[in-house]
Amino acid sequence: MAKNTFSVLFVCLGNICRSPAADGVMRTLVAEAGWSKRIEIDSAGTAGWHSGKLPDPRMRAAGKQRGHTLDHCARQICADDLERFDLILAMDRENLRDIEALDRQRQHRSKIRLFCDFCTEHAMYEVPDPYYGGPEDFEKVLDLMEDGCAGILRHAQSL
Ligand code: 4NP
Repeated sequence: MAKNTFSVLFVCLGNICRSPAADGVMRTLVAEAGWSKRIEIDSAGTAGWHSGKLPDPRMRAAGKQRGHTLDHCARQICADDLERFDLILAMDRENLRDIEALDRQRQHRSKIRLFCDFCTEHAMYEVPDPYYGGPEDFEKVLDLMEDGCAGILRHAQSL
């Protein structure tokens, strides 16, 4: 029997730019598709420096311009997340290595992947960190999120 729900965790370094953008864009697409009850979405950072904070104001403003509400409260990833989620998507290779380091017994390798694996319109391996960048870098993040999140939704719908 097909599984009823699907859960995805987006992970970056600080959990205030890229992964909360993924979280918000995914919520928009899932709501538009009428799949909100079937897909659980969350995000986390490999570092805990910004825990408790809303996303970076530049990321929130760029998201809002495109109709995405970015209101995730930052938190640090923990080992339990590896059990809890069906798919764990790292924004870059450093994030991927840090998540894999939490998977000490290598039980969860197949569900820990790079976000850009789900992009079909952009030939990128990683989502570049916009934190020290300019407005165009935040727009690039959103371009990648809209592409990859559409791919993740198609993936969830195909299961
Ligand atoms: P994120 O971006 O990993 O996409 O949330 C960053 C946010 C904060 C920092 C670095 C990257 N920082 O150095 O504080």
